[in-house]
Amino acid sequence: MAIEPRGEEWGFETRAVHGEEGNDPYRALTPPIYMTSTYTFPSMETVDRVTGGKEEGFVYSRAGNPTVRQFERTMARLEGGEEGVAFSSGMGAISAVLLSWAKKGRPFLFSRHLYSGTRHFIESMLIPLGATVRYVSFPEGAPSKGGLEEALREGAAGLFLETPSNPTLEIVDLSATAALCRTYGVPLAVDNTFASPALQNPLALGADLVIHSATKYLGGHGDLLGGVALGDRQTIGSLRTVEAPLLGATLSPMNAWLILRGIKTLALRMEAHSQRASLLARILSGHRAVVRVHYPGLAEHPGHGIALRQMRGTGGMLSIQFASFEAARRFMDRLRIIRIGVSLGDPASLVEHPASMSHRGWSREVRQSLGIEEGLVRMSVGLESPDDLARDVEEALAGL
Ligand SMILES: Cc1ncc(COP(=O)(O)O)c(C=O)c1O
Repeated sequence: MAIEPRGEEWGFETRAVHGEEGNDPYRALTPPIYMTSTYTFPSMETVDRVTGGKEEGFVYSRAGNPTVRQFERTMARLEGGEEGVAFSSGMGAISAVLLSWAKKGRPFLFSRHLYSGTRHFIESMLIPLGATVRYVSFPEGAPSKGGLEEALREGAAGLFLETPSNPTLEIVDLSATAALCRTYGVPLAVDNTFASPALQNPLALGADLVIHSATKYLGGHGDLLGGVALGDRQTIGSLRTVEAPLLGATLSPMNAWLILRGIKTLALRMEAHSQRASLLARILSGHRAVVRVHYPGLAEHPGHGIALRQMRGTGGMLSIQFASFEAARRFMDRLRIIRIGVSLGDPASLVEHPASMSHRGWSREVRQSLGIEEGLVRMSVGLESPDDLARDVEEALAGL
């Protein structure tokens, strides 16, 4: 008899491997890819049942597709959410969530440390559209110290944050922040891209919404773009029926299938990414050319204790503060296995220099206010042999 995963009673790896299997009429182990833009109906009575919500069915793939639905349901199980809605990229998910909040006409609260595209969306879309935006800090990860409570007391459409954050790996205490948000009735959305559901589940810690760029660890092979938002039925209902189909950034069935395939090995990959990143963080933090390594697995990281409490591994991302712009760039040029590129979460290790690449569009002052110094290098530690990665880093550091 086929295994029928029933949510939480199976372990993470079992849920990731078996997803939503068992629903296929031909009992295919791997889900089919429904490459169709539209669906037909045998009768107007069926039209009424499907459009009236009495029978599950699909009308048009911008509003729903069976392969995409499998991905959404699998992700909801992995994050412990009731529902999920998929998007064509992480930014598709983020922009839909933020525009759904814009309808409330209240101020937006954001953590200061965000992916550059999210910040770009805030500055180039939300603010010009008339939104009031406030950035808050989480010194040492604590919500009680950076002005959050005062901002929550004044009322807000929602608080949006990342932990660990891109690119400086700030950690925020999710349980404490969620409890504070709940006190003031403000929804909390967490971009969980860096941790992935294998290492951290914000909904279980009290968040209302979880967002992923599926382009990264979920897909896991650097060959697609995708995004997803997970939460309770009511919150996801509006994203599914209004923002996703009307903004139109919905996921293709082919990419949903590839992400489902990637998810099967997510837990194994995250363990391997975490081990290799821990090794490189130790090597880097002992070198004289390195001012500081930002990695939540290092005991000296200010969020280390919180990370150990709320994560099941400290992940594959780290950033390195070199003394100068030149040292950072020389280090990158000398790497042989670890390639220069802006994405992350791939089997191939990648480095990027925020001041020259992801954050080039921001002034030096803005970058400095975000802790992005000229000598900062972000590294996505991949799945190559640990010894080769260690040697690559040691050789690039030699003589700096
Ligand atoms: C933390 C984080 N969130 C969201 C995104 C955006 O994802 P996408 O590139 O899939 O739109 C990224 C991309 O790098 C990211 O690092």
